[in-house]
Amino acid sequence: QLADVAVTGLGTMGGNLARNLARNGYRVAAHNRSRHRTDELIGEFGHEGDFVPVSDLAELAGTLRRPRRVILMVPAGAPTDAVIDKLRGVLESGDIVVDAGNAHFEDTRRREATLREDGIHFVGTGVSGGEEGALHGPSIMPGGSAEAYAALEPMLTSIAAEVDGTPCCTHVGPDGAGHFVKMLHNGIEYADMQLIAESYDLLRRGLGMEPAEIAEVFATWNSGDLESFLVEITADVLGHTDHATGEPFIDVVLDQAGQKGTGRWTVISALELGVPVSGMAEAVFARGLSGDVDRRSAARGVLRGPSETPAVGDRQWFVDDVRDALYASKLVAYAQGFDVIREASDEYGWGVDLGQMATIWRGGCIIRARFLDRIREAYDRDPGLSSLLVDSYFRDAVIAGQAGWRRVVATAAQLGIPVPGFSSALAYYDGLRSERLPAALIQGQRDLFGAHTYQRVDRPGTFHVDWAGDRAEEER
Ligand code: 6PG
Repeated sequence: QLADVAVTGLGTMGGNLARNLARNGYRVAAHNRSRHRTDELIGEFGHEGDFVPVSDLAELAGTLRRPRRVILMVPAGAPTDAVIDKLRGVLESGDIVVDAGNAHFEDTRRREATLREDGIHFVGTGVSGGEEGALHGPSIMPGGSAEAYAALEPMLTSIAAEVDGTPCCTHVGPDGAGHFVKMLHNGIEYADMQLIAESYDLLRRGLGMEPAEIAEVFATWNSGDLESFLVEITADVLGHTDHATGEPFIDVVLDQAGQKGTGRWTVISALELGVPVSGMAEAVFARGLSGDVDRRSAARGVLRGPSETPAVGDRQWFVDDVRDALYASKLVAYAQGFDVIREASDEYGWGVDLGQMATIWRGGCIIRARFLDRIREAYDRDPGLSSLLVDSYFRDAVIAGQAGWRRVVATAAQLGIPVPGFSSALAYYDGLRSERLPAALIQGQRDLFGAHTYQRVDRPGTFHVDWAGDRAEEER
């Protein structure tokens, strides 16, 4: 009997995806670079379903029914290319390769085009939800041909998370669209985590609250608009006590955040597309600063903070203000994230349905949250929405929270507590709504030092002032 699907790369994510497929009734050919890992997985979890261990990719191809469906879960970059190269030799026209790793979307575009020459479908697929998600139901973001998606849909939707009976999986668009959207998911994840971290910092250093108390605040927030996986796990992390020392866990962890690179990719892509993603950029920078141990120790004790710090007034008020700042800044980060997806979709001709992206992020993934329903509703109201922030729900929510948001940013500045996420989101909001920006001055400066020209408010055309001469204006 032939296998329905193969999984190659049986690390934690790959192994759990293979188990998820087997648990859903698929006969799964399991392959790993070292056979030992395959045997280990099947030894431990073989009873969960129907697995076929295979030792190499030729055997894998021989084990699969046609069209063959092969899911790759190997490290991004060279290792993925190496496996694809080998697969190319053993697969044939009509077969489907699903890259479920966190690949860069440009790599996915290249791989898709290469495999297309052989008639092999390449489906770059974002999978979010960590280890647990992979096993119990991730959010799945497949990109590739519609034909390949049709052949994969029943299988992918059966292993995906589900919210209100809707699977968290949909065809995102052709070639790199799936991996692009997954990258944006991670960029938003970075921004969200940074904003939550700033909230914690303000409550801890600004109000002097203990981690366990702050855990309770987050648990309370999780029952309102902020309800989300990240807020929920924040309460969990803050409430945890280190077994070895009996100290709050948060106090025994080094304050240096790691990153594998998807946040950085997101910011680079957004810069290239010309879309502001201040929240994500600040989140990447903040992680970078946290890990810059040498510079931090050189500055500590040398760079002084404010000499006078204000007393934070009513404690509960401040907690509520921080909640409002968190929600408003989060709305800005999501609005920026969706702007990038729209821009890339236009640029690459992907036709991404933004409301559908919010729908498949409602469950399974790391940024799953109650308010993704609000995003879906906003795009239902107006699919051509220029920014989520001008939708009625978002507009009202930000306006309702802005007084607290502004107090928090001002108080943080006076206290000397960094809130790059909150303050950059507020600056973006104020920039977006400003009647007139100081960009006119920048145009003047550019024209003066480089004859870069400018446009006028009162008539069309491109102009230049003879700054060094008689300062007459000429039309260019
Ligand atoms: C997910 C996560 C997943 C992974 C991140 C972590 O959606 O399941 O985003 O992809 O945990 O890559 O990224 P950093 O190591 O860069 O924080």
